[in-house]
Amino acid sequence: MSGARRPVILDCDPGTDDALALWLALASPEIDLRMVTVVGGNVGLERTVANAASVVGLSRAVVPVVPGAGRPLRGHFAGEVRVHGDDGLRGVTLPPGPPPVAAVAADAIRAMLHTMPPAGMTLVGIGPATNLALALATEPELAGKLREIVLMGGAWGEGNWTPAAEFNAASDPEALDILLALGVPLTLLTLELTSQALVRPERVAAMRGLGDGACLRAACDIMDAVLPSRRLGGKGHPLHDACAIAWLIAPELFETRLVSVQVDCGHGPARGRTHVDRWGRSGAAATVTLPDTLDTEAFFALLGRRLARLP
Ligand code: BDR
Ligand code: CA
Repeated sequence: MSGARRPVILDCDPGTDDALALWLALASPEIDLRMVTVVGGNVGLERTVANAASVVGLSRAVVPVVPGAGRPLRGHFAGEVRVHGDDGLRGVTLPPGPPPVAAVAADAIRAMLHTMPPAGMTLVGIGPATNLALALATEPELAGKLREIVLMGGAWGEGNWTPAAEFNAASDPEALDILLALGVPLTLLTLELTSQALVRPERVAAMRGLGDGACLRAACDIMDAVLPSRRLGGKGHPLHDACAIAWLIAPELFETRLVSVQVDCGHGPARGRTHVDRWGRSGAAATVTLPDTLDTEAFFALLGRRLARLP
């Protein structure tokens, strides 16, 4: 590891793959996880907050968990229980975590950004972007405090929520649009990238052999409980959100390109679609980093090594 630990606020909606992302962040010395903010997404806000607190609690880390928005800026909440189950963790029960902070995520993000030097904070969003957008739409000058925004969301091909759109982008397109317009360096990990992080039974079995800590065991139980993705031919399921953390701690596992991205905020069948210009056809400035390829074996090796460090 070179240089200081990177201050990070992680906004999430646990969510099976969110739980894995949280543990990977908590296990990684490159990341100084200052706050976990929570949004309604895969399941309702009450459940995502409880799950986030449980995940943090099991790691014995002392990191504030702050509840945020329970619905998108416009439109209605829609969960993804088909993938994550009614409880968001596919039936894997964790002990209750510490009580969440009595605050509102967007306000807590703004307050923390005020304490930071210019370009001091990295925001990672692995759920609908509502909390992050609310924070930055209220005080756009706080964008100067950001080093980078890293988002799991969008797709340049087929969606996984509608034919056109990926779940996080489709859940709150207006919020994603606000983040894309900030002018802050932004990395977007789309479905095409995260589909390369395919959880398969033999990968989980190898990980189980690395230790017997409660977090590693729970992470493996969760990965085993998620059903294989029909979209990916039933070969496994993608560990979307953990890719965003891997990007921060091991960028050498990725090949990237610069692209321009627009999100469809209309109300037709393309709502939430991310138009990703991978070949510079639109003439728009290519300012978004798009990780294109992942070294899958190295990713799972890293994940296992890191989770084995946790209690
Ligand atoms: C994204 O949607 C959620 O279901 C996952 O947690 C991930 O953040 C993938 O489309
Ligand atoms: Ca998520």
